[in-house]
Amino acid sequence: MSVSAASKRLLRDTGARLPIVCGPMYPGSNPELVAAVSEAGGFGVVQPIALTRLYGHDYREGLRYIKSLTSKPFGVNITILPKTAASARYAKMNEEFADIAIEEGVKFLLTSLGKPNSIVEKAHQHGVKVYHDVHNSKLALRAIDAGVDGLNLLNSSMGGQTGQYSPSEIIRSVQESHSTSSDFPMLCAGGISTATDLSKMLDLGYAGVQCGTRFLATEEAKITDAYKNAIVQAKRDDIVWTNKMAGTNSSVIYTDMVAEGGLRTNSFVSYLLRNSMTKSLTRLWLLKGALEKYDQAAFDPNVQYWQAGKGVDGIDAVLKCEEVLKKFEEGLK
Ligand SMILES: Cc1cc2nc3c(=O)[nH]c(=O)nc-3n(C[C@H](O)[C@H](O)[C@H](O)COP(=O)(O)O)c2cc1C
Repeated sequence: MSVSAASKRLLRDTGARLPIVCGPMYPGSNPELVAAVSEAGGFGVVQPIALTRLYGHDYREGLRYIKSLTSKPFGVNITILPKTAASARYAKMNEEFADIAIEEGVKFLLTSLGKPNSIVEKAHQHGVKVYHDVHNSKLALRAIDAGVDGLNLLNSSMGGQTGQYSPSEIIRSVQESHSTSSDFPMLCAGGISTATDLSKMLDLGYAGVQCGTRFLATEEAKITDAYKNAIVQAKRDDIVWTNKMAGTNSSVIYTDMVAEGGLRTNSFVSYLLRNSMTKSLTRLWLLKGALEKYDQAAFDPNVQYWQAGKGVDGIDAVLKCEEVLKKFEEGLK
C-alpha cells in the first residue's frame, strides 16, 4: 500500500514510524504503556491526570520517567477548559501541563474541548504540533481556523466519551465543509482494533488511527486483569452508552454493576444538564464521581465500570504493545 501525503505528514508531525496513536486514557495511560507504544513504532499520548492522580507521578518527573523508558517521541493531551469560576483552577492546571510538556521537549500536543487558538500560537513558537479532538464538522472548522496541524475525529464506536457519527460520516462532512489541503492529517478515533480496520480507515482518507481499547488489553497497561479479560470477551453488542459518568455519552461494557446503576441520569440531573446556568457545574460534579469510579475500576477487579469501544470484536487476546503494532503493520502492506 502506498503511503498517502497525509499519513506522511502525520508521521513527520509525530516522529512515529507507524500511523497508530495510543490515545490518552483515564484509566489506562500509565507511563509504561505510553513508552511501550512509542518504543514499538506507534505514538503514545500522555493523559496528565492519569499520570499524576492515578499512577502517582509528579507531572514533570512522570514525563522524565517516560523519556527514561524510550528515546522515541510521545505526545501529551491538554484539555482546554473555560476560565469560569467552576473550572478556573483546572484551566490553569492544564495550561501548566502544556508549558511543562514544552519545557520537557514534547513536540506534539493533542488538545481536547475548548478553542485551541492560544495554545496553537504558543506551541508553534516552540516548533510543537497541535492536533485537536473534534466530533463534528463545525468544531473541525473552528479548529482549522485556529491553525491546528491536524484533527482527531472522534466517532460513535469509540471507548470513553463518544462522538455521534460513524468514521465515514464525520470525515466526509469535514471534507465537504472545508477545502483542507490533501495532506492535512486527520486521525480516526474509535473502533479500530485490527489491521483490516486500519486499512479501511486509510482508504477513507484518514492519515492514521487513534486507538484506546486495543491498548488497554496489553501487558503494559496498568488496569486489572479482570478489565483486560472483559475487553477480550466482550462483543460489540455488549458496549452501551451511559451519560451517568460525565453528563455526555461514554461507552462502557454492560456489566451487572452498570446495569444496576442504570444508563441515564435521573430527570432532575437531566434538567440540570440541559439548563445553561447549571450545565457546567453539573458536568464537573458528575465527572468528579466518574473519576472516583474509574480510579477504583483501574485497581479493584470487583468495580466493573469498564470503558471500552466497539472495536472489542477484534480483540481476542492480551498482547504486548509490540505485538499489537506488528499486527497493525499488516494493514499497511
Ligand atoms: C478507558 C478509556 C479512557 C479514556 N480516557 C480518555 C481521556 O481521559 N481523555 C481523552 O481525550 N480520551 C480518552 N479516551 C479516548 C481515547 O483516547 C481514544 O480516543 C479512544 O479510546 C479510541 O477509541 P477505541 O477505544 O474504540 O479505540 C478514553 C478511552 C478509554 C477506552
